[in-house]
Parts: sequence; C-alpha cells; structure tokens
Amino acid sequence: MIDNLGNLKRTHYCGDLRSEDIDKDVTLMGWVNSRRDLGGLIFIDLRDVKGIIQVVIHPEQKEAFIKAERLRLEYVVVAKGKVVARSPENVNSSIPTGKIEVIADEIYLLNDCEPLPIQLNEAALAEEDLRLKYRYLDLRRPSLQNNILIRHQIMQSMRNFLSREGFYEIETPILMKSTPEGARDYLVPSRIYPGKFYALPQSPQMFKQLLMIAGFDRYFQIARCFRDEDLRADRQPEFTQLDLEMSFATQEQIFDLVERLMQNLFSEVLNIELPIPFLRLSYKDTMDRFGCDKPDLRFGLELCDLTSALQDTQFNLFRSAIQQGAVIKALCIPQGASYSRTKQDELIRLARHQGGQGIAFAKVTEKGLESGISKFLTAEESSAIISLAQAKAGDLIAIVADSYEMTCKVLADLRNTIAKWQNLIPDNIFSFVWITDYPLFQYNAEEKKWEPAHHMFTLPKEEHIPWLNQPDKYGQIIGQLYDLVCNGVELSSGSIRCHRYDLQKKIFDILGLSEKELNERFGFFLEALKYGTPPHGGIAPGLDRLVMIMTKAESIRDVIAFPKTLKATDLMCGAPSEVSEEQWKELHLKPGE
Ligand code: AMO
Repeated sequence: MIDNLGNLKRTHYCGDLRSEDIDKDVTLMGWVNSRRDLGGLIFIDLRDVKGIIQVVIHPEQKEAFIKAERLRLEYVVVAKGKVVARSPENVNSSIPTGKIEVIADEIYLLNDCEPLPIQLNEAALAEEDLRLKYRYLDLRRPSLQNNILIRHQIMQSMRNFLSREGFYEIETPILMKSTPEGARDYLVPSRIYPGKFYALPQSPQMFKQLLMIAGFDRYFQIARCFRDEDLRADRQPEFTQLDLEMSFATQEQIFDLVERLMQNLFSEVLNIELPIPFLRLSYKDTMDRFGCDKPDLRFGLELCDLTSALQDTQFNLFRSAIQQGAVIKALCIPQGASYSRTKQDELIRLARHQGGQGIAFAKVTEKGLESGISKFLTAEESSAIISLAQAKAGDLIAIVADSYEMTCKVLADLRNTIAKWQNLIPDNIFSFVWITDYPLFQYNAEEKKWEPAHHMFTLPKEEHIPWLNQPDKYGQIIGQLYDLVCNGVELSSGSIRCHRYDLQKKIFDILGLSEKELNERFGFFLEALKYGTPPHGGIAPGLDRLVMIMTKAESIRDVIAFPKTLKATDLMCGAPSEVSEEQWKELHLKPGE
C-alpha cells in the first residue's frame, strides 16, 4: 500500500545530518539506496540530494518493520526516528554521515519503483546510449548529481560577482533572424509567414552589442547558444555561454574583470586560490612555441625552429623542403631515446592522421645525435639541433619538415601525446593563459578571398586601422581579439568591437560581402552603429567547458543535465522526431523538400 504525503514534513536532509544532531527527532525523505537484513534488524541507506544516511529499523517497531521488509531499491520513503551515535566498530569513515544513524519508529512508503533498466552503481555503468535514454535515472548517480550541483554554484557565483561589478542580466531573443556566422543555423519555420524562418542564436553577439548602443553599459547573460556544426568531444549543438559585454572598456579592463571573476569563482566553489593576472601569449608566440592557440601549459615541451640551422644542409629531404618554402620544427622528447620502433611508428601514424607526412627521429647520446637521420647531418648541424632543442643524452628529437601550419599542427598534437605518455600533466593545476593579437583576416587561397580569422565585428589594433585602406597590409592587421585558454581547452573568445560604422563597413567590404547581402543579413545592425555607438568589447566563456574543467569531467555530456549525443540526438525524448502531416501543412513545408 502506498502512503500519502499528507501532513508529513521533512525536518532534515539525509546527507546534512551530523553528530551534532544526535538525539534529535527527524523526518527524512528520500530513495532506498540499499537495504540489508542483518541479525533481525533492517538497515536502509536512505539517499537524497544531500547524501546518504543509514536508517535502522528494529523488529519491536512492528508496523515500521513490516513496511521496511517490503522496501526495494529506489522506493521513495519517509523515515521518522531519532539520530543516534553509531557504535565505534560500526563507524563508516567513507561518508560524512558515517558516525551516526537514525533509529526509525515510523516508515512510510510514498512510491514504489520497478526494477531499474540501468544500474546506478558507478563501478558497473551501462553503455552510454542506454544511460542517456534513462538520463533521469543516471542523474541519480552521485558523481553526475555533483557535477550538476557544482554547475549551479558556478552560475550563482558568476551572477553574484557580475551584479556586484555593475552588470545587468538581460535576456535576448531565442527566435531571431538568420545571420549565420561560423556554423550553420538551426532554423524554425514561421507558420504565419509562409517560406520565412527564424533562426536560433549561435550566440547573442549582435544583441549584446545593440544593448551597448542602447546604453546599458554592462550586460551579462547565461545564454543558450545553438550551432548546427560537426560535433566533437567538447561540443554540443546546444550549449551555454556566460556572455558579457562592457562599454568604454579596453582589452585590459576585460582581462582584469575576467581574471577576478575566475579567481572569485575558483575560490568560492573549489576553495582554490588562482594566481592572477593570467599569463599572456601572443598568437604568434603560442604558435611558434606550442604549435597551437590553445596550449596546455601544465607542462613544458616547447617546440623549436631548426630552419635557419639547417639552411645549408646537404641532407636532401630537408634542403629541398626548405627550398620549397617549408620550415623545419622539432620537439625534444625527454628520455625518448628508449622508445621502441613501434612507439615511434605510432607517433608517425598520429602525425599522418593530422595530415602531416611523417616525423624524422634522432636519438641523443653523450656523443651527439645518433641513429635515425643523424648520418645525413654534419657535426655542426647535429650540435645546433641538440642545442636548439635543449636536448640531453637519453632524449629523442622529433623533427618535422612541412608548411609552417602543418609543422605546428603535427607537433602540437605530438606534444600532447608525449605529455600523456610520460605522465607530465600534473593533477589539480588550472593553467590559464590569454592568447592575444590574432590576425584580423586570413587569406583563403582556394577561393581567393579574405575571411575573418575569428570574428568580423572586431576593431583592429588602433595603429593598424589605417591598414584597412592598404590591401597589401590586410594580412598583417592585428585584431583586438583574445581567447582565454585553460589546461589546453579554449574556454572563451572575445574582442573589442568595431564601434564605428565606417570601419565595420570597410571590414565587410574587405570580406567581399555584397551590398545586397550586407543589407539582408546585417542591415539593421550596421544602421544601429550610426546612432552614437560607444566603444565596447566583451567575451563569452563557455559554461559547459568551464564546468568540465572545474569538475574534471571527462565528457561535456557529464556536466549538462540533458545533453545530446555526438550525433545531436536526444535519446530520452527521441528528438529530433517526425511531426504530423498537419504540422507540415501549417508550416507550409512539404516532406522531403
Ligand atoms: P565563440 O564562438 O568562440 O565566441 O564561443 C565562445 C565559447 O563558447 C564555447 N563554445 C562551445 N561549447 C560547447 N559546445 C559548442 N558547440 C561550443 N561552441 C563554442 C567555447 C568558446 O570559447 N560571440 C562570441 C563571443 C564574444 O566575442 O563575446 C562567441 O560566441 O568555450
């Protein structure tokens, strides 16, 4: 028989009880996490959102005992009783409530539970697709529940911090105009206007700039963004950003704000004192030294450039590569001389996977370079390589000759692989770095046109503004663009925006947007820039990625209550799904068209 909740009132959460509560009469409500019958007593681990407490039912409490005998896993139960100390031999130091237990005199069964389709045991997890189908059950697992609760704390901490700093939380539309930026838009057909569509925002970028034009000065929003793009491990089609924008702000002010926000957040949520200011690297430096713009700086392993040292080499492979405009870059693998041929081949395979041609290896001994390509090099070249790579006896030097971009790509990947193989990544370190000074444009040689390297609403560095009128300088224009990277993950992107109509228009001209296209896509926005737009800038930390870093979750799906799969499906609700013929008609659409 199922009992009603009636006038039963919870007095405490299971997981909150401590030794200070001994002798208190409590009413607890939760789920049966486990049940054991031992020596005539029934022990129930009762679980709620705050944790687990042991409830003991003695046979003398006849009614309660009979009810407790019927309890099964995940039944929903009320236990009324008294908190007592456990006898020393029964103390369980692995849970915070382990010194106490509740002796129950009343048990109520509020609901039963069918045998679960998935186990909630962390040590015996079902495959992920099945767990996603039963997400509401999987979310009962303490580790997932903890991630979601930390996410809540992170959001509260950010909200409070930004409110204290004078930011206003303002919501922007979810149904907006399609103005595709980087990714494809998710489109929503209009019922009232046949053939017309709304788009879901890829980010509130234009709206937040319009809020600055409207005079709100400082805006933030915990904003949902939608992007129909190829999914990867740390991407979701629908994700969340802490989106913010400030008027009259310089890059320095935005860095200072975000550094203090992160410091406050890590201190409040993880009790970790982050050192600020964060390190800074220009885009060029990070590419030269780490081969990518999201370097994991928890370990060293810097790349070096051997092109000048090998300029006159007789080693044909390198000479002809240099003659064709390639560069030669290398990475020293500490203690790598002992790598077997199989291990080297694995690294070559990974390099090819990145699109590279391969890797040349040379071992370092007391006498100099040995084996691999060393026989093709002069003594001077060998010692120059050892010195540039800062290698010592016992190390292995991995050398790549290719375009600058490809050497960077291959060696950046190699750097991360070696760090993992050699356990060079310390635990519990949060290594933040600002990447600055990105180029504003990049040239697409295939399509023979300039593209935004990052963000087309960005102001060039002030001293580079005149170059917008010098086509030979386009490639050298540095934008006021920045990324914040933590432990090798791109956490945020932002920029100082182009607040002048003439400059924004010029940038669109350089990008080759026709007048018609411009007006159709951004006309309203360009017009707004004409009406007294203050200088402004902002940034948008990806909330999901931040929670992942802070909870050390392995997958972005572990920090989102109801995530989508890598194929952008919701296995629980079954979205996307077919809709009725009626709905097709209402939306003026035809299946298959
Ligand atoms: P950007 O496109 O770089 O910038 O996005 C900012 C941050 O959002 C996170 N992010 C994602 N997280 C999960 N899944 C995804 N598919 C995904 N895509 C992006 C990343 C990223 O750093 N409007 C600009 C911000 C600005 O300039 O203020 C923007 O959206 O952590």
